[in-house]
Amino acid sequence: MKKGLFISFEGGDACGKSTQVNLVKKFFEENFNSDDYVFIREPGGTPLAEKIRDLILNYTEDKPLPMTELLLFCAARSQITQNVILPALNSGKIVIADRFYDSTIAYQGEARGIMSKNDIISLTRTIIGDLKPDLTFYLKISAQEAFKRKKPNEVLDNIESAGLEFHKAVERGYDFIADVEKERFCVIDATKTPEQIFNIIKEKISQKISENDKKTR
Ligand SMILES: Nc1ncnc2c1ncn2[C@@H]1O[C@H](COP(=O)(O)OP(=O)(O)OP(=O)(O)O)[C@@H](O)[C@H]1O
Ligand SMILES: [Mg+2]
Repeated sequence: MKKGLFISFEGGDACGKSTQVNLVKKFFEENFNSDDYVFIREPGGTPLAEKIRDLILNYTEDKPLPMTELLLFCAARSQITQNVILPALNSGKIVIADRFYDSTIAYQGEARGIMSKNDIISLTRTIIGDLKPDLTFYLKISAQEAFKRKKPNEVLDNIESAGLEFHKAVERGYDFIADVEKERFCVIDATKTPEQIFNIIKEKISQKISENDKKTR
């Protein structure tokens, strides 16, 4: 079976993931056939998973408890993995994700602290099998620097509003998984300009695509 390529973007709130994903999308629109790639974001990406996203981020009647939040992320991930990511990869497409399970290791594992990071990894394997991104860009920035990027009147969702200590723990969680799975991680200093970051990303993606083409030829 033809094997696609799975690329994810990770990092704490406001590190610049969506900015870079949008630049990559523009690059793909200009250089690839639209049948060759799929852009997704997590949580979300299917009608059910988008409803779960809304519950996680915006539901305030009885805010999701940490364990409920973890399981909602897992439910949404199961849905997008089976219905979108695996079919795309199996038909040889490139999948680009704005967040994937590394976010759960950092946010629900290290920062919420409901389960150890290794238990989150085991739970993830139960839910999505052995699927892993082939390449993960971790845009690394301190929580203090990232907080400066927030606009004064910005309405914060259930996770963004968690405070500085929580977001410092998120960074520790990402540092952990980036160290454990070095082979797929590309760690980038997210305080560089968007253009500098995009140039690094563009080069790395082009290299990965050509390696993958050689392997699957
Ligand atoms: N390299 C950069 N340098 C300075 N500011 C940046 C950079 N990249 C993005 N920004 C700005 O930081 C803010 C957050 O960027 P963005 O929405 O891309 O982050 P994000 O990682 O997707 O955040 P979230 O986790 O909340 O989705 C935006 O105002 C954006 O314009
Ligand atoms: Mg974003």
